[in-house]
Parts: sequence; C-alpha cells; structure tokens
Amino acid sequence: MKVLVIGSGGREHAIVYSLKKSALVDRLFCTPGNAGTVELAENPGLAADDFDSLLHFVKNEKINLTVVGPEVPLVQGISDLFAGHGLSVFGPSSEGALIEGSKIFSKELMKKSRIPTADFSEFYDRFSAAKYIKSKKPPYVIKADGLAGGKGVIITKSADESEEVLSAMFEKKIFGESGTKVVIEEFLKGEEATVLALCDGKNVVPLISSQDHKPVYDGDKGPNTGGMGAIAPAPVVNERVMDRVMDRILNPLVHELNRRNIVYRGIIYAGLMISDENPSVVEFNCRFGDPEAEAVLPLLDSDLCDLIFRAVNGELKDVDIKWKHGFSCDVVLVSGGYPGKYEKGKEISGLEKHVDDNEMVVFHSGTKVMGGRTVSNGGRVLNIVGLGKTLKTAMDRAYRLVNDINFENMFYRRDIGFRGLKYFS
Ligand code: AMP
Ligand code: GLY
Repeated sequence: MKVLVIGSGGREHAIVYSLKKSALVDRLFCTPGNAGTVELAENPGLAADDFDSLLHFVKNEKINLTVVGPEVPLVQGISDLFAGHGLSVFGPSSEGALIEGSKIFSKELMKKSRIPTADFSEFYDRFSAAKYIKSKKPPYVIKADGLAGGKGVIITKSADESEEVLSAMFEKKIFGESGTKVVIEEFLKGEEATVLALCDGKNVVPLISSQDHKPVYDGDKGPNTGGMGAIAPAPVVNERVMDRVMDRILNPLVHELNRRNIVYRGIIYAGLMISDENPSVVEFNCRFGDPEAEAVLPLLDSDLCDLIFRAVNGELKDVDIKWKHGFSCDVVLVSGGYPGKYEKGKEISGLEKHVDDNEMVVFHSGTKVMGGRTVSNGGRVLNIVGLGKTLKTAMDRAYRLVNDINFENMFYRRDIGFRGLKYFS
C-alpha cells in the first residue's frame, strides 16, 4: 500500500524508518520531512498545515493510509477532514486531540473518570491565579491551557517567582493565547515515565515504556525543552505498574471518550509520575512522543504498518506486539541556545559514517539538505540512538557515535540514561 507520513521531526523519521521495514508498504511518502526522511521516503514538499494541498495529494496519489505525526494538525482537525473524504488516517479527530490541545479539557476528563492526576484549579485571569498561589505551599506547577511546543509548563519555588510567570503568561502572552487560560497543579513527586499506546477507538495496546529527559542541562537543570533525550524501557514501569496504567488510566480514558462519542484512533501518550508503583498522569498527548518515539520504535519487532492499519480499522483486539530484548538510549543534539534563540543553517559533519542499525540509529529532527550538504534547521537537530542488551551498552553506543558528529555550537546532555542505570544494573 501507499503510506504518507505528515511531519518533519525525529519522531516522523523514526515512524518512516519503521514503516520502511514493512512488507505491506510499497511506496512511502513523508512531508514536509527533513534530510533524514528524504533518504527513505519520497517527499512531495507540502507543509503540515496546508490541508488543501495534502488532501489533493492523498486523493491524487491514491494514498491508502496517512499517519499524522505532530499534534498541531490533529488539533486543527486534519483527521476530521480526511475521514470526511473517506480516507484512512491514523491520529484522532480534533475533539479527541483535545486530550493534548486543552489542559483544562484533559484535567476535567481525568477528574470525571477518576484517573489519578495532580489536584488542579483553572484560572482565566492573573489576579485570581496569584491569590490561589498565595494560599498554597511551593513548589507551584503553572501550565498554559493550550499547545506550547512542550514548553508551556513552568515550575516555580516562590509566590514572587510565580507572579512573574503569571504576568508573562497573561500580559506578555509568552505562549500567545495558549497561556491566557492557566492550570495550577499540585506538585507530584516520583519517577517520570511515558507510556505510548495504540488505540483503535475501543481497544488500547501499550507499547514499551520510555523516559524523556526534558530539562536542557545535565542533572535535570534548566528550562524545559521538547526533550533532550530518552531511554526505553523506563525505570520503574514493571508489569504491575503497566497493569495499573491500563486499568486506572488508559482504559478509563477511552471509556470516557467513548461515552462522549469521541472515537479515538491513534496514539495515546500518557506522561506519568510514578511513586510507590502508583502511576499518576502528568499529561496526555495525542500522538507519539518526541524523543520517545525515537527510543521506542527501534526496539519494535512487529510490523508498524500492520499495527497502525489495525488501529485505524478497529482491529487491535488481542494483538500481541513483539519487541526486541534490550534497551535504547537516544541523545538529542541541539543547536546552542535552544530552547531560547539559536542559529540554523550549520553544516553537520560525521553523518556519513555507516553504522549497524542493530547497534545505532540516527534520526534527523531539524535538518535539511542545502546545496548537497546537510545543515541544521531547528533547535533539536539530531537524535543519536544506541541499542544494546543492557542500558549501559545502549548509552555507550549512543555517546560513541555522538563523538563523531559535529556542527557549530552543537550542544547535548551528557547524562541521558544515567538515572536509569541504578534501576537496571
Ligand atoms: P508537561 O508538558 O505537562 O509534561 O510538563 C512538563 C514537565 O513538567 C513534566 O515532564 C514534569 O517533569 C513537570 N511537571 C508537570 N506537571 C507536574 C506536576 N504536577 N508535578 C511535578 N512535575 C510536573
Ligand atoms: N517528549 C514530550 C512530548 O513529546 O511531548
């Protein structure tokens, strides 16, 4: 069949990489793509928000399945549009995508279905938010309601600091209109993990767990980013925790979505905080995580196209997903200055080295080909993934390959996977 992947990040490169291995896929397209995806898929050069051109392309090329990578087109209704034209699309409707598109929607849904999550209150103006903060003890977790590229959560240690953040959100509108509705949450303690799950509208099948590393500096210091690296599987997600994630979180979520007549066909991303083997939801997203997808998908031993096709057609019941034994470690190489200001267009060296993809894989995030050279084209530039029988081997392989790669002002965390070592050795 002919498959189109929409998006341009490391997540989409990892999806394309996995679909490329499928015997079911005859022709693979990715748009807008990057310097990595063009090596594996045809690139029609259409933007992810140009729905008219995408629809025209899918109909003209008789694409059998469209896989939507990022949240923005999902929240904007690309799946509703395609489904309305009788096309197969993997990714929820705009209503389903609200589990990510609105923190208030998502928190209320959790409350209604008794899904464990931090206590919260919602605010529509700066003054009532500040008053509420004064009535609570620090730390404070302040979240923009709408999409903010993974950067819309700020944790503060004092009421004064919180006032500054609230002023920046409500008055300076640092997150645009997304930040003019705010959720303030109880601070949760524990070990973080991500569980991605396939959903066919009714049935939920989890993928192996993973763990993102969001803060920009070693030791989880500095501002949050889209993700500086990830490992899979995650520490602390044992069988009992995974059963609880299914029973207390994912199944109740889908049940509640169904009750509201929302048929969710796509990936559910559950960002979790786990304490004493009890998982609480930090956030839901409506798509594969980035960089979690780059850590999880190289360990997949089943056919991704078959799984996605089943999800789209409501056929996930009793599906048993096969995984390679072992671990992965994804180190993200970013442009100096990220998540603040950074420069693009830096030539990347060291990518020509051929590696055994049972040991190492490179997924491009913000890259493009310019005049025959591969250059940086975003904050997160490359994902260097090591694979191995142990987490330590996976980490060593990733960092060994990182040493061969360079671009001006390249920056990365040197401790991806470190905390996991104490659980897995
Ligand atoms: P989010 O974008 O909602 O995943 O939040 C970004 C990061 O902020 C998470 O990965 C956590 O590290 C942290 N965070 C968010 N909510 C909470 C919370 N209620 N308690 C503690 N940490 C949180
Ligand atoms: N890795 C965080 C996210 O995909 O939202």
